[in-house]
Amino acid sequence: MAYLGIDLGTSGLRALLTDAEGAPLASAERHYEVAHPHSGWSEQDPADWIAALEGAVAELSHHPAFPGLRGIGVAGHMHGATLLDAQNRVLRPCILWNDTRSHAEAARLDAMPEARALSGNIVFPGFTAPKLEWVRAHEPETFAQVAKVLLPAAYLNFHLTGEHVADMSDSAGTSWLDTGARDWSDTLLDAGHMRRDQMPRLVEGCAPAAPLRRELARAWGLAGGCVVAGGAGDNAAAACGTGVLHEGEGFVSLGTSGVLLAARGGYAPDPGSALHTFCHAIPDQWYQMGVMLSCTDSLNWLARISGKHPSELTAALGEELRAPGRVRFLPYLSGERTPHNDAAIRGAFTGIGAETGLEELTRAVLEGVAFGLRDSAEALRGAGARLDRLLAIGGGTG
Ligand code: XUL
Repeated sequence: MAYLGIDLGTSGLRALLTDAEGAPLASAERHYEVAHPHSGWSEQDPADWIAALEGAVAELSHHPAFPGLRGIGVAGHMHGATLLDAQNRVLRPCILWNDTRSHAEAARLDAMPEARALSGNIVFPGFTAPKLEWVRAHEPETFAQVAKVLLPAAYLNFHLTGEHVADMSDSAGTSWLDTGARDWSDTLLDAGHMRRDQMPRLVEGCAPAAPLRRELARAWGLAGGCVVAGGAGDNAAAACGTGVLHEGEGFVSLGTSGVLLAARGGYAPDPGSALHTFCHAIPDQWYQMGVMLSCTDSLNWLARISGKHPSELTAALGEELRAPGRVRFLPYLSGERTPHNDAAIRGAFTGIGAETGLEELTRAVLEGVAFGLRDSAEALRGAGARLDRLLAIGGGTG
């Protein structure tokens, strides 16, 4: 018996084959690009996700345990709007979580008193509802054809099962979900000019979503039935994977985005602090997190413009921890969510002198990101979350 975990990340897809106890057997990874056609825009072609999945599965299918695959769980980068027409054709590139073009639409939706009260969150420009409002205003022909809106993980689930189904943890990041009641909110859908029939069916993340499509099971050479789980938004999935389920437990994720997450015993939203309060991927649980938009993206940016690899930049700093230097970096390359909720804010270096070199800039970038995460720690503390135990995860920990 084997199981497959799929992480549909912003920079690539990772697939992990495990045995029935969850012990890793084999893994495969494929990369794809993010397009930034304009400042603040961030898009991906869902066809690239499918190609990455097929490539990873082809590689894993050589493992002797693969034909015994019984279950699949998908985690995805959150908030992305994948728009399908009535024939399930993708209408336009997916607008991603770190795309801030819909800041005016987000501010308009956020100003409605019901928005924060029902969704438990600020309507951030990166969330899904304002993206659809942007499409309605700027691409009305596309908007008129939208039959379903799927988050990235739900789109992969659709490819796997042929059904439109999404889990609670990911759906909480749309601004269409009543996060306390764990159901679509007709009031929020109405406010965003959307309808319930355009939404996928909701399931808990750990519940079965649907069986793997027969054609895929055959093409992959599977011996028996295989079920696809509801899945999760990447942060809720990471919380499950690191055992962050109870009050006092948390993690810091150093990925394209930076996340400081705390499991919460109940539903206690605190939108005023720009914290996110979402359903967990297990029933009757929630979590809170602060999100910064440019975490490893900040170091990747410095690496790109200096023609170095990120690991070359950090290796030059050595192992020793030092007090903050004179150069400061504000890591707001794509705007910021927690604590500023400001799509227009941009990054900056200050304190640069004639003596400043790449080493000082690298140190400042790492410190800027660390202080950004510290802001989220303060916001979580203010909301009454405890962080007794933290695990660092994500590409930036390597
Ligand atoms: C969470 C968020 C990011 C994405 C990408 O609100 O936008 O963490 O899930 O990883």
